[in-house]
Amino acid sequence: SDLCAQGKARNQRVFIRADLNVPQDDAGNITEDTRIRASIPAIRMALDAGAAVMVTSHLGRPTEGEFKPEDSLAPVAKRMAELMGRDVPLVANWVDGVQVAPGQIVLLENCRLNVGEKKNKEELARKMAALCDIFVNDAFGTAHRAEGTTYGIAQFAPIACAGPLLSAEIDALTKALAQPQRPLSAIVAGSKVSTKLTILQSLADKVDQLIVGGGIANTFMLAAGLPIGKSLAEPDLLDAAKAVMAAMKARGAEVPIPTDVVVAKTFAADAPATVKAATDVAADDMILDIGPETAARLAAQLKSAGTIVWNGPVGVFEFAAFENGTKQLAKAIAESSAFSIAGGGDTLAAIAKYGIDKQVGYISTGGGAFLEVLEGKKLPAFDILEQRAAASV
Ligand code: 3PG
Repeated sequence: SDLCAQGKARNQRVFIRADLNVPQDDAGNITEDTRIRASIPAIRMALDAGAAVMVTSHLGRPTEGEFKPEDSLAPVAKRMAELMGRDVPLVANWVDGVQVAPGQIVLLENCRLNVGEKKNKEELARKMAALCDIFVNDAFGTAHRAEGTTYGIAQFAPIACAGPLLSAEIDALTKALAQPQRPLSAIVAGSKVSTKLTILQSLADKVDQLIVGGGIANTFMLAAGLPIGKSLAEPDLLDAAKAVMAAMKARGAEVPIPTDVVVAKTFAADAPATVKAATDVAADDMILDIGPETAARLAAQLKSAGTIVWNGPVGVFEFAAFENGTKQLAKAIAESSAFSIAGGGDTLAAIAKYGIDKQVGYISTGGGAFLEVLEGKKLPAFDILEQRAAASV
């Protein structure tokens, strides 16, 4: 964006890597277009600066070198054209050369169709770098992948920099995790400890309060010696859960364990729901939400937090009888003056359901990339841009 502002993008060939990997239904209709909308500021900035603009993205995980119609970015080109109010031509087979004039935009077909993209082969990366004067990576959602268009091209392009979306995502994550206003609360929920163990372990060193929910909370309840009946849990991860609780306790921080829960005998939308004390869960009970007392206590704590990181609903919020916990925490996040950041598909669905998108400080477009940052990992696609920036000063 600085380059655009300084007039340095005029008549330059700008190659933008966006993450336009959006969900589609069986008929190929885009069901959710947030990522396309989020890609537009970078594109407009380059167009307004007088650049010849090429944009690409992956879509799904196609087999390299084998074009199938369902792998095409054609529906994305169409939606982008509608959103921008201008033509967005789609270019197939673009690696050896692209025709685009200053002030014009083309969308380059699914970059994962190119042989060498996934494995970041140097020959492909060099060819793509030769297409442009300036490479802009704005694909936060793919920043955890070191592929041709996210890493290799950034090594070889004359200039390589981060776009406004990638920069905003990194800034929000830095504000939440590296320099947080305390107390810092994290909600890590979802069905399995195993898929989020690294996140729990990494956050245990940083946060003041680690709220667990869903199947993850069940495993923690079990580790705390509570009965969980036939609830979803991972008994082989009890020691890991205990270690997280001990690490938090040693720092004077806490993992609040639910004191009441909502249970049912079966996993169904119409299953009769009963609120029980956490100590009273029966052998044939299934925990499907945190109870109202727990929700109220956590909500009060969230309201006085300085920073909140939210990943995962704390109950089966898709079913009305088991949505209260997630709804109360969502409301508390909305009412809190804390800086909040949320990410992950289910979390975004809950934010949409409770209409709190305007009150959340930052909603990430990343799925896997967001989780990897919470795991404390570096994002290779951002790392290479930092290396290039460091080398140029
Ligand atoms: C995502 O949807 O998380 C990103 O677009 C990355 O997709 P991938 O997991 O296929 O690399």
